[in-house]
Amino acid sequence: MLTVNIDNKEIEVNDGALLIDVMLKNGISVPHFCYHEALGPDGNCRMCMVEIEGQKRPQIACDTIVKDGMVVRTKGEKIEKVKRGILELELINHPIDCPVCDQAGECKLQEYYMEVGLYESRLDTPKVKAKKHIHLGSEVMLDQERCVLCKRCVRFTQIYTKTDDLIVEKRSDHSVITTFPGEKFENPYAGNVVDLCPVGALTDRDFRFKKRVWFLSHGNGICMECSRGCNLRVGHDKAKYQDDIIYRFKPRRNDKVNGYFICDHGRYSYKKENDNRLFYPFFKGEKIELQDSMDKLKAFLDKNSLVIVSPSLSLEELAYIKVWTSKRKLRLVTSLKEYIDESFEDNLLKTKERASNINATKLLDIEVVNDLEETLLEYKNIIIFSHKIAEQNFELLKDKKVINFTTTSINSDKFKLSIPIASTYEKAGSYINCDWILQKSDKIVQKELQPPTILEILGIIEDEYIDENRVWQKYLNQSPIFSDINLTLLKSDGYQLERRK
Ligand code: SF4
Ligand code: SF4
Ligand code: FES
Repeated sequence: MLTVNIDNKEIEVNDGALLIDVMLKNGISVPHFCYHEALGPDGNCRMCMVEIEGQKRPQIACDTIVKDGMVVRTKGEKIEKVKRGILELELINHPIDCPVCDQAGECKLQEYYMEVGLYESRLDTPKVKAKKHIHLGSEVMLDQERCVLCKRCVRFTQIYTKTDDLIVEKRSDHSVITTFPGEKFENPYAGNVVDLCPVGALTDRDFRFKKRVWFLSHGNGICMECSRGCNLRVGHDKAKYQDDIIYRFKPRRNDKVNGYFICDHGRYSYKKENDNRLFYPFFKGEKIELQDSMDKLKAFLDKNSLVIVSPSLSLEELAYIKVWTSKRKLRLVTSLKEYIDESFEDNLLKTKERASNINATKLLDIEVVNDLEETLLEYKNIIIFSHKIAEQNFELLKDKKVINFTTTSINSDKFKLSIPIASTYEKAGSYINCDWILQKSDKIVQKELQPPTILEILGIIEDEYIDENRVWQKYLNQSPIFSDINLTLLKSDGYQLERRK
């Protein structure tokens, strides 16, 4: 360990650490555009200047390795003048777009101007003009005038996806970000450049102008679209007289799972949470009250039924359904073939398992049927907790007596009984990803007509109060696999379970 002194604060650091990392980790403000922890230093923006004792000129913190006894200053007339000068240079050709820019509210240029700038413009020549609202490809829009040429977007396609989709064209103050002539920026991870862009030069075509960011609240969720279980910040808002709506998914850093990024498929899967939602039960094609659906469900349960679960239900739901089916002497199965998609997998984050909790079904020893069609032929009465399985086996199911627990209104009037349930971000739960990391997803959204969770419905049927914490106390903590785990204390980067086959 070494000791450095930054703004009169003694800090212990590891040998070889970058000064900018030390400052960021210790909450010391250091303006920076080109440096990003995921991409490393580039040294092109000069925003991260600091004064280092013994050095004649200010140095950039992003390319400085700390030394024992180093004395660093970020405040004082001299260094603040340097920082203001660099910011002034960045702003010379920057348009006055803040009122109409989608980045406003989370723009680093705005923040730094408020922090270290605050000067009157000395410019009396016209600003250099460039192209605005260019559709680069994927969902990415570019405004060349707002770009500070930090090259984070370019380096993302060089370092992370290794596709070299973006380049800097022309020279000096005519330099612009673009693609190769005739090429589009079609990249399954494209949305990450919008997150990396520190200003409003790259914006998300899907999100822009839908919601001002300061109206959004964010909760911690897990992506359901494959078994990686990438960590998400779920941005949602309940405007006056409107329902609570999810507007975007952003990546949440977890070095053990997804690092800083997510794929575009996962990013835009938030739409499923808003579209075609089912809020009322349907019985034989007619809308009925929730209480009536509970009575019909109770009557149905006496019969010999097959229960099919989705491998994307939460661990708590799967565990309780297992307890419940064994008490009711019902056969419980899942099917995986509906959830395997070889074409989805890549060597970055995406896996071929298109469900978030397959490993939980393995740990709970839930029977996997390889030929679901054959199994379905054996039963007249089916209880199904999987929209995907219901959809993909619709032809076989439509002549049977099916109780369909679902979040979506699609085909819900075609089954004997469809019961609306809370979607992923309307309930709390945990998921075990492809690397056996147990992760928690919070209850984030509360709808006006909030459908009940599966646990609430089964609790009504069994006449007991049950929620995810009680499932842990009563059942999961009794198993040696989960005996040490306290769900409420589970850290945001998850808990590594022992790996199994
Ligand atoms: S578009 Fe954004 S990320 Fe790319 S160089 Fe310009 S400012 Fe940086
Ligand atoms: S890689 Fe998988 S878990 Fe991650 S964002 Fe994409 S679909 Fe979601
Ligand atoms: S952040 Fe250090 S030079 Fe850009």
